[in-house]
Formats: sequence, C-alpha cells, structure tokens
Amino acid sequence: MTLSLVRKTQEAELQGQLARRVYIETMGCQMNVYDSERMAEALGRHAYVTTTDIERADLIVINTCSIRDRVEHKVLSMLGSLRKLKDHNPDLVLCVAGCVAQQVGQGLLARVPHLDLVIGPDQIASLPDLVAGARDRQQRQAATEFVHRKDYAFPELLAPDDGRATSFVTVMKGCNKVCSFCIVPFTRGREVSKPSQQVLDEVRLLVQHGVREVTLLGQNVNSYGKDRKEELDFAQLLRQVAAIDGLWRVRFTTSHPVDCTDALVEAFARVPKLMPFFHLPIQSGSEAVLRGMRRAHGVDDYLQKIEKLRALAPHVALSTDIIVGFPGETDADFQLTLDLLARVRYTSLYAFMYSARPGTTAAQLPDDVPLAVKKARLAQVLALQDQMSQAWLAGFQDQEVEVLFEGRSRAGDSGPNSLLGQLDGPPQVTGRTPQNVPVNVAATDPEALATWPGRLGRVRIDRVHPHSFSGTLLGFVA
Ligand code: 5AD
Ligand code: SF4
Repeated sequence: MTLSLVRKTQEAELQGQLARRVYIETMGCQMNVYDSERMAEALGRHAYVTTTDIERADLIVINTCSIRDRVEHKVLSMLGSLRKLKDHNPDLVLCVAGCVAQQVGQGLLARVPHLDLVIGPDQIASLPDLVAGARDRQQRQAATEFVHRKDYAFPELLAPDDGRATSFVTVMKGCNKVCSFCIVPFTRGREVSKPSQQVLDEVRLLVQHGVREVTLLGQNVNSYGKDRKEELDFAQLLRQVAAIDGLWRVRFTTSHPVDCTDALVEAFARVPKLMPFFHLPIQSGSEAVLRGMRRAHGVDDYLQKIEKLRALAPHVALSTDIIVGFPGETDADFQLTLDLLARVRYTSLYAFMYSARPGTTAAQLPDDVPLAVKKARLAQVLALQDQMSQAWLAGFQDQEVEVLFEGRSRAGDSGPNSLLGQLDGPPQVTGRTPQNVPVNVAATDPEALATWPGRLGRVRIDRVHPHSFSGTLLGFVA
C-alpha cells in the first residue's frame, strides 16, 4: 500500500468512515500499470485502501489486456475462481476494467452472473461512483462508452509519497493508426493528447516528491499534439519536460516509425536528459508482410531513420517489437526479418507469435502459419537476439556506468544468481543504466534500501547476466 493511501485511510477513519479495501490485478502493458494507479488514487479519495490480500478485499478490480493470446479465457477463469469469495461475502464488488472490458462489455455481465461491473479505460474517473452504484443500488453495469475527445479529462495524477524515483506519465491516450493486427484502436479509441500544461504540472509535482526519472507514455507518443491545434509536438514537449529543474532523466514509449520525426531523432543528440534508449517497433523485415500489416512504412524508410539516429547519437540502444507468423508470412519473408535483426543489431526486443484479435482487419485473413512454425520462428528470433544482446552487454564488463537507484532488487529476492547472496549477503538495490539495463548492486551500508533510491551512483559492472548486470557502487554523483 502506498503511503498516500495509508494517510487517506487514516483520514477516512478519523472522519468516522470505515475504509474499504480494493485489490487490483493488473495485466498487460505499462499503460495498464498507470491506469491501475489512477484507479487506486480515484478510489483512495473515497476511503478505499489498496490491499494485496484478495481474500480480504471489498472490491476486486481485474485490469485486463487484450493485445495478445486468449486473455478473455484467462479473465473468465479468474472470475470463476472468485465466485466462492463472492458467496462468502455478498458485499464484495467484482469489477473487470481495461481492454477486455471495453471489447466484451455487456457480454461479460451476461456470461458471469456474479460479476458486478465492467468498465472501459475511459471510465476510470467514474469508478468510485460506479462502484457505489453497484454496492448501494445493486446495479450491475457495463460502462464502456468512449468519452468524446472534447469532454475527455485525463484522470488526475496525485503526488506520490512512496519514495519512488521513477514514474510513468501518460501524455496521450488512444491510437489513430490502423495496423491490421492490432486491437488497441478498438479498445482505447481515438488519440487524445493531454494538454502540455497538465503534463508539465504533473512532472513538476512528481519531481517535488522525489521523482528523478519520468517515462512519457502513450500508444504512439510521436503523434502527440496532432489532435490539438495550438499544442506542442512531441519533440517540443520532450524538451520542455527535460527543462524541468530537479528532473534528471526522461524516457518515452512507444513509437510508430511513421511519426518518428527528424526533430525527435535529433533530440537524442541534443537533449542530455533524454536517455539513450529508443524502442521503435518494426514488426517484420518483409515489405509484403508490412503491407499486410498496414504499417504505412517500409523497411528502407525505417532503416533510414535508424541510420540518421546512429549518425547523430551512436550510443543509443535500440529495441523493437517483432510479430512472427502473420498471415501469409513465408519462410523467405521470415528470413528477411532475421536479416533485418542482424543488420540493425538491436540491444533487446519483444517478439510475439501472431494471434488474431477479434474485429481487426487481419482477423479476416486466414491464420495460415501453423502453430509449430510460429513457435519455431519465435525461437529463432529469440536465439539470434540473445546472441546479439549478450555480445552488447558483454561490452560493459568492468566499465563504469551511471545508475539511478530505484529500490530493492526483485532479482535479489528470487533470482537464481542471487540465492546465496540473499541467504548470507547484504540486500541488493536495483537501478537502471542510461540504456535501460537493470543493475543490481549489493548494499554497502545498512540504510541503503532507504537512502539509495532516488540517487545517481557510479557503478562498476562486475558480472553480465542474460538481461541485467551486477556491479559495485563506486560513489554517488547526485
Ligand atoms: N498478435 C501478436 N502480437 C501483437 N502485437 C499487437 N497485436 C498483436 C497480435 N494480434 C504486438 C506488436 C505490438 C506489441 C505491443 O504487441 O508487436 O507492437
Ligand atoms: Fe496498435 Fe499500430 Fe497503434 Fe501500435 S501503432 S497501438 S500497433 S494500431
């Protein structure tokens, strides 16, 4: 539970209200993580506190993702297993939120008789009222309307007081692209940019409360501002965010190559606080597949942007998304993807097997690449990338890097490399390098877990792991 919510509970209890507990299960992307925090905050103002103990919850929210897989089934089976909690506690309110909620809507209420509430991503601010309706008036409801862009207000971001060093800040919602495989335009609606003044105010607020790094979030942040005439574009917004005193690092995700402007590429060379890590999804190395995906860019124009970036800022680590087994993808198409990966040499990537999403245009195409072939292609992509990632990471052995410390290392709690360290050694504090690689550092003083987060350390890399480093603190920069 965050300190701010603890404080609100105490306030609520002082005012004679009995605090209720909400358990939030978050699936999917960073946008959902962000949305879950806003839900907790909205409910916090109505005397709810978050709990990690689902059995003691008065309200359970499952914040769902529908981008891949058959998550709808996962959500249904999870709801099935919650039935007994509902039987024990008839006051329990069960709510499904997020993209599956948006997509299936009323259908979920019909299929799950003990489900109370279904809310789409646009309804976060109304969640407390909707929950009250479900609780007090026994109203079962699916609230999945998109709010018109003129009336849309981004859920307010409250000051964190949990000591976090890094934070997400949503700068826009929705996506106006028409990638044929993607469900996001259906579940998140059209693009709406958050007014830049609000973004800047939110970042200032975060900084006042100790945040040193922000990641600006959107489905396609590069098209920020296009829906508002007088608004900044994304590269301008980035510069203004970076100009905020007390903020040390800025990142953003995610980007569509078509909207990746020269000004944005140049920012990597000219804005020192912009961290050298760029996630630019390409999806496939085959022109034919990219056309089928309706990506609106080809391989060559994508590579030109990369070349320009590398000429200006060669130290920027690049990552991407790849889909294997898109309808009609031949062995030759797939080979072009492998060729592209070998040519660009990304430092990391996310790879997925294509899965047809209901309602998308690609879902009308025959899903003709057999599952076994999809699996084999996925394995090949990951194996090739592992080699390249490992070679890149190995270059950091014994080097000194700057690390922004965030908190206790989760790898330190459960990772295979740290088992002995955890039994006998000091706790590990985790942070990230500028190029976004996690680094675990053994605490050298007993207060490290309390005092290092939010500080920037110089760290020597002692060991290179498959996706992270471990190192030794040499001193603090700030
Ligand atoms: N099948 C597989 N992968 C998908 N993605 C989006 N939709 C699908 C789908 N239907 C992947 C894309 C996107 C990432 C967020 O998820 O690579 O960039
Ligand atoms: Fe989906 Fe394409 Fe929009 Fe990304 S840019 S969210 S893949 S439609």
